[in-house]
Amino acid sequence: MANTILVGAQWGDEGKGKIIDVLTEQADVVVRYAGGNNAGHTVWVGKQKYVLHLIPSGILRKEKLCVIGNGVVVDPIGLVNEINGLAKLKVKVTPKNFVLSETAHVVLPYHRELDSQREVLKGKNKIGTTKRGIGPTYGDKAARVGLRMIDLVDPARLEEKLSRRLKENNEVLKALGAKPLSLKQVLADYQAAGKTLKPFVTNTVVLLHEVMRRGEDMLFEGAQGTFLDIDHGTYPYVTSSNTTAGGACTGSGIPPHRMDRVVGVMKAYTTRVGEGPLPTENQEISDLLHGMGREFGATTGRPRRCGWFDSVATRHATMVNGIDDLAVTNLDGLDTVETIKVCIAYRHGKKRYDFVPNDAEVLAQCEPVYAEFEGWRTPTDKCKSWKQLPAKAQKYLKAIAELTGAKLYIASVGPGRDQTIFV
Ligand code: GDP
Ligand code: IMO
Ligand code: MG
Repeated sequence: MANTILVGAQWGDEGKGKIIDVLTEQADVVVRYAGGNNAGHTVWVGKQKYVLHLIPSGILRKEKLCVIGNGVVVDPIGLVNEINGLAKLKVKVTPKNFVLSETAHVVLPYHRELDSQREVLKGKNKIGTTKRGIGPTYGDKAARVGLRMIDLVDPARLEEKLSRRLKENNEVLKALGAKPLSLKQVLADYQAAGKTLKPFVTNTVVLLHEVMRRGEDMLFEGAQGTFLDIDHGTYPYVTSSNTTAGGACTGSGIPPHRMDRVVGVMKAYTTRVGEGPLPTENQEISDLLHGMGREFGATTGRPRRCGWFDSVATRHATMVNGIDDLAVTNLDGLDTVETIKVCIAYRHGKKRYDFVPNDAEVLAQCEPVYAEFEGWRTPTDKCKSWKQLPAKAQKYLKAIAELTGAKLYIASVGPGRDQTIFV
């Protein structure tokens, strides 16, 4: 399957975890390249549900190697908990099937605390972050004051760097009215996590280039989605990393010309969790999906905002990521809808947009221009092939792929592995 980058083409939670799990069968190595434990990737294997936050969703296939690349920010306590949680579900995570970049930045307790405090300060302009400390950690990385995994696994170095950083951050926390952190406690917790994680920590750039020389196939697992990208998303309502395809190169050390293909994952409708513009947001479809017990955040449990499929956004995502192939998930979510709407352009005053405007305030005021499709009104979750899909569902899928400007590759009709139709 060559080297494939998989990205979210909307606002995150497109079903990347499920599609990664399916495609891992054809890959040798799965690499996470951006984000941190703000991500929540849900995978069902039979009747067992797994929610992955940091570890690539490829981990559920025993013989494959999973890698956390340098572009990821790692909460070591969260990662140890995730490894232990998987062990309880009989998924063994060992240095044989999982490695972690020594240059990945470390999320510290002051990052989490600052994340929360800044949200409070923003008041009604809050971003609605996951409060996992992601923004402050990437901020420290860019300001060149971050700690990396290489520091975490060296107890003396950790103590030296942490005591310096804690001093400054405690002053900030106090100024914000928050409780300062105890060096002794943080050090104890992080040295323990460093000890547990040390066997997994390695030079993943050198390792991935060896993988490449052996001619093995790599699958790059994106987190979040195109419109949460720090450069290409609806700034400031974004996360703090490059979630788009370019991030796979910088976040792993694999050069652009060695990437072969980009797969874009999108839902057959649109969802977003957190604040920020969502042009096709619609109460009726939100109520429908929430009523089915669907569309609650995998990381924070918050109800996701829902809306109609937005082809202006997905077309923009195709452009920015260079999407070749599309995986459309959650088709079954529309099974009962009588008339399905698809946004084909935005209107802002007298202006019509065929692309996503950069100004989040303008985007928030945009009115969607809709095309309508007749619903198929029959369950699709048991369909096993393209032929078995209702003709109206086929028509809908073809239309949204064409509007998005990439090839329809997968249609997903349920969370299970066997609910995946290769087109
Ligand atoms: P990710 O963050 O992109 O991996 O997506 P999440 O796991 O956060 O959210 C996607 C949700 O949709 C999860 O609960 C999946 O189990 C579920 N899912 C994925 N594909 C399908 C599908 O085709 N149909 C249904 N019903 N659920 C799906
Ligand atoms: P996966 O990988 C959906 C959103 C948050 C918030 C914004 C910034 O599961 O698709 P952050 O904590 O990153 O500073 O929050 O980004 N967000 C996600 N939304 N899926 C995700 O990941 C997300 N990760 C962050 O809700 O609006
Ligand atoms: Mg998710």
